[in-house]
Amino acid sequence: MGYEPFDRTHRDDPFPAYRALRDEAPVHRAPVSGAFVVTRYEHAVEVLKSPERFSSDTRVLNRVRRRQMSALQQARLLWKLTAGLRLNPLRMRDARMLILEDPPAHGLMRAIVNRGFTPRRIRSWEKRIEELVHEAMDRVRGRVSFDFIEEVAVPLPVTVISEVLGIPPEDRHLFKHWSDVLIEGGTGSGLEDPAASGVLDVIIELGRYMRPIMRARRADPAEDLISVLVDASAGEAGLTDVEIVLFILLLLVAGNETTTNLLGNAVDALLDHPEQLARVAADPALVPSLVEEALRFDGPILFVRRIAKEGAELAGVPIPRGAQVLPILSSANRDERRFPDPDRLDVDRDTRGHLAFGLGNHFCLGASLARLEASAALRVFVPELLGLERARPERAFVDSFQVRGRRELPLRRRAP
Ligand code: HEM
Repeated sequence: MGYEPFDRTHRDDPFPAYRALRDEAPVHRAPVSGAFVVTRYEHAVEVLKSPERFSSDTRVLNRVRRRQMSALQQARLLWKLTAGLRLNPLRMRDARMLILEDPPAHGLMRAIVNRGFTPRRIRSWEKRIEELVHEAMDRVRGRVSFDFIEEVAVPLPVTVISEVLGIPPEDRHLFKHWSDVLIEGGTGSGLEDPAASGVLDVIIELGRYMRPIMRARRADPAEDLISVLVDASAGEAGLTDVEIVLFILLLLVAGNETTTNLLGNAVDALLDHPEQLARVAADPALVPSLVEEALRFDGPILFVRRIAKEGAELAGVPIPRGAQVLPILSSANRDERRFPDPDRLDVDRDTRGHLAFGLGNHFCLGASLARLEASAALRVFVPELLGLERARPERAFVDSFQVRGRRELPLRRRAP
C-alpha cells in the first residue's frame, strides 16, 4: 500500500484510506517519507503513553531538513532569525519548547505553564466567552447568508486567546495572520520552500512584538497569562524570554486554528446528520456530548509526531531509531475495534477515551478552554442552525496535511 501521510491525495477525505490501513497494515511504513503510520486505537495509545520509546523531540527532523540545504542557505536563515530577534544564536539553540520536550524536562516546563490554566482561571474566562459568543451571534442572526467560519469560528478563539494572554484588542488581526502563516508554513504547502513561507518572519515579528509587553508585565503584573509566564521566569527553572515567545507561538498554532476547526467541523457534521442536529436542538443538555462526539468524529488534528528511540517496536514491527512515528488520532477515533459504527455521528455514544486532544504527558493543555468555547458557541448556534443550510455543496479544506478544518462554510437561510 502506497499511503503517504504528507501528500495531498487523501486530504479532503482521509477516512477510507485510514480504514484500509487499520485493516491491512496497522503499522504502515510510508514508502517515500519513511514515516511509520499508526492507525489502530490500541497502537496509537501505546505510542502516546510510551515517551521512553517514542520521543516528542522532532527537532532531529529539522536537522535532516537543514542538511538538505546548502551551508550558505543555513547561515542565511540563522542570521535572519538571530539578527531579527537581536539574540545570541546559542540562546536560540538552547531554548526549550513544551511540545518537543520529553520527561523529565517536559514535566518541569509543564508545571510552569499549568499555572496559567488552573480550573479557577478557566472558570474565570467562562462569562467573557459567553459574551463573545453572543456578540458573534448578533452579527449573524437574521442574516440571509453568511460564512460561519469567518463570522463565528475564526473570531471567537482568536479573541479568547488574545484576551487570555492580555494582548491589546486592536492587535488581534496580527495574531490571526501569524497563526495562519505558521499553519500553512509548518504543515501545508509552505513547507515546500521554508525560506519563502514566512514562518521565520512571524517568529521575528512576534518576538519583537512581545518584548515590550513582557517588559511592561514584569514591571506591573496584570491578571493575564503573559504575567503568569514572566512571573515564572523569576525562578531557577523559569522560562527565558525566548522560551516565552516560543510558548506563545505554540499557543497560536495549538489553540487558535484548532478551536476554529472544531467549530467548523462540528457544524459541517451536523448539517450532514440532520437527525442529530434536531436531537441536540431539542435537548441542549446534549451539547457537551456533541462537542466530544464532534472531536471524535472529525477532530482538528489528524496526527501527532513522534521519533522512535533505540529498539522501538510496535505490533511486532521493528522501527529503526530516528524514524518518524505518526499516531493518527483521527483514525484511532474511528477504529471500529474501539468505537462501534464509527463513521456515524452519534451524540448518544460513549466517547470516553477519544484521542482528539492526545494522551499522556503532552495531553492538550487547552482542552478545558477549547471545550468551554465550543460548548458555549454550539449551545447558542445549534437552534439557529435549524433554519440554515449549506449555500454551496462543495467543501474547501485548510491547506494542511496535519490540521483538518473547513476554510469556509457558507450558510444561507432555508426557504420558509
Ligand atoms: C479543539 C481544540 C484543540 C485540539 C483538538 C487540540 C489538540 C491537541 C493535541 C492532539 C495535543 C497533543 C500534541 C502531542 O501529543 O504532540 C495538544 C497539545 C497542546 N495543546 Fe491543544 N488542542 C486544542 C486546543 C487548544 C487550546 C485552546 C490551547 C491553548 C489555549 C491548546 C494548547 C496546547 C498546548 C500548549 C499543547 C502542548 C502540551 C504539551 O506539550 O504538554 N490547545 N493539543
